[in-house]
Amino acid sequence: MALIAPSVLSADFLNLSRDIQMINESEADWFHLDVMDGRFVPNISFGLPVIAAIKREAKKTLDVHLMIEEPGKFAEEFKKAGADILSVHIEACPHLHRNLQQIKSLGMKTGVAINPHTPVQHMFDVLHETDVVCMMSVNPGFGGQKFIQYTIEKIKMLKAEIIRRGLSTLIEIDGGVTLDNAREIVEAGADVLVAGNTVFSTENPAHTIAALKKMTS
Ligand code: DX5
Ligand code: ZN
Repeated sequence: MALIAPSVLSADFLNLSRDIQMINESEADWFHLDVMDGRFVPNISFGLPVIAAIKREAKKTLDVHLMIEEPGKFAEEFKKAGADILSVHIEACPHLHRNLQQIKSLGMKTGVAINPHTPVQHMFDVLHETDVVCMMSVNPGFGGQKFIQYTIEKIKMLKAEIIRRGLSTLIEIDGGVTLDNAREIVEAGADVLVAGNTVFSTENPAHTIAALKKMTS
């Protein structure tokens, strides 16, 4: 059974507390929190104060996905705000190994996020330092986009490498996950499904989370 990580990017920000409680009480496993800087990606979302506020109510793991340049400058601040997992983009980190050591030394789980055009093999040399690979299945920056089908092949390649090396790294798929493709994604080897639009565009988000969970069992 896969872990489900609803993306708060698609929540109702005027009713954030209500949506956080919904996730707390649902079958969801993690909160997925997308931080965008308007430079690494062509959009700006939310940052440290919002995450710190969410932390006060959230009863589950905070999975923070940094879509920002120079993430190392802010790693400590995100730890203070309450991040449990901190993912940085391989494309934004010329010294990725150093970034991962920093995240680990701050007491967080390490995440490496990887864009659709980046060969997954590019992160194999730090795979043993990585708790979660956040594999983008859309171009990062916006919720509600269409799943890029080639991601399925990348999941299979990554899964084979994780198994070959006997690692416990989790594969998280981020972008365009729906009730229609969830099973195929998990069958390819994904361990965690991020879902924004699929969850929050429905009348009963908690039911949709439960349905996603069931699809993957
Ligand atoms: C995209 C973000 C995703 C996004 C996913 O840049 O990283 O986490 O919220 O949204 P959906 O599930 O709507 O594609
Ligand atoms: Zn994300």
